[in-house]
Amino acid sequence: MLSGKRLLLIVSGGIAAYKSLDLVRRLKERGSELRCILTSGGAQFVTPLSLSSLSGEKVYRDLFSLTDESEMGHIRLARDADLIVVAPASADFLAKMAGGLAGDLATAVLLASERPVLVAPAMNAAMWRHAATRRNIALLEEQGVRRVGPEAGDLACGEVGEGRMAEVPDIMAAIEEILVPDTSLSGHRALVTSGPTHEPIDPVRYIANHSSGKQGHAIAGALAGMGAETTLVSGPTSQPDPEGVDVQRVETAAQMLTACQSALPVDVAVCAAAVGDWKVNGAAESKLKKTSGAPPILALSENPDILASLGQAGNLRPALVVGFAAETENVVEQAGAKRKAKGCDWMLANDVSAGTGTFGGDENTVQLINNEGAEDWPTMTKPQVAERLARRIADYFSHAA
Ligand code: CTP
Repeated sequence: MLSGKRLLLIVSGGIAAYKSLDLVRRLKERGSELRCILTSGGAQFVTPLSLSSLSGEKVYRDLFSLTDESEMGHIRLARDADLIVVAPASADFLAKMAGGLAGDLATAVLLASERPVLVAPAMNAAMWRHAATRRNIALLEEQGVRRVGPEAGDLACGEVGEGRMAEVPDIMAAIEEILVPDTSLSGHRALVTSGPTHEPIDPVRYIANHSSGKQGHAIAGALAGMGAETTLVSGPTSQPDPEGVDVQRVETAAQMLTACQSALPVDVAVCAAAVGDWKVNGAAESKLKKTSGAPPILALSENPDILASLGQAGNLRPALVVGFAAETENVVEQAGAKRKAKGCDWMLANDVSAGTGTFGGDENTVQLINNEGAEDWPTMTKPQVAERLARRIADYFSHAA
């Protein structure tokens, strides 16, 4: 499966480096073209000779080595790979990556590279839990760095906890997932709503909410990444357009409904937008002035419910309709009731109470509610929730076929 794929493996310092030798062996068996960089920390645990014997290639070590630079400049090392894998990725190495340091060959290559990066962290459990490591990991994931592991178990330091490097077959699976894209949604059409809506009060003022669009945009990107022909109908957000997605930008709930209806028929609709529940009746055509008297009293009327209209769209109803329920109390019950009321198949319930950081934040803790019950998903980044949902949707269609 990996034949012809060019991989650059960076081995940083950690006892788990011995597993990287096995990783090299298996990557070679699968036919990948492999180059290795060994950091000075990594060289405390494995020798350059063992890495080069297994990879069949020279091992690169030094940023300022004349021979290394004349044979293969570090910029070429950075550009020539389909994927860069850092295994093990020590706490120190992750911190350097997050900080954009470039003082040695491995970090300089990473900074000069625009290729996908996969890290397999390995460290003591307290180091893994430390706020600084959490922050570094969150920053790297936000930049698109993928991660496999770490796992919980016995650690080399004698402690038990999360911090063991992922096992080699899991690292191999993560590499294949990136390099051999899953296109199981090709031939399917998807519609996603995202972001807030802006309901005008007058030409300069509007009613909105704190939705960032991060979750909806990530879902559209994940569905398109798996081959679905995807339309994203988005309210005003600062999120970049996801790759390969047809993006329709709207302002109000009424415009969002029209755009969604024109995207039909689709196989799956995911409503992640925080649609304003109310609009202002008769929004003023010119700016309301303070000088015109007492503060205006805004009369509101209910907006159309886009999810419900898709869930009840008769013969245009998508085969799978998915909603998000933002709740602050009795999350599962309220979301379950909403699922039925809006005629949707799956509801992803999330707790948006103050302090959960869901609105606008980078992580999400959801429960998937369908007619079989509620399923807890672990706290994940929004792109990870999106990937998991997209895979789940692909499974649904593969069983329905
Ligand atoms: N939704 C929608 N159109 C609306 C309101 C909500 O499509 N006018 C969708 C959202 O995109 C989400 C789901 O309905 O998928 C639930 O949204 P939520 O805000 O949790 O529920 P509401 O229906 O607005 O109910 P309430 O605010 O009373 O909890």
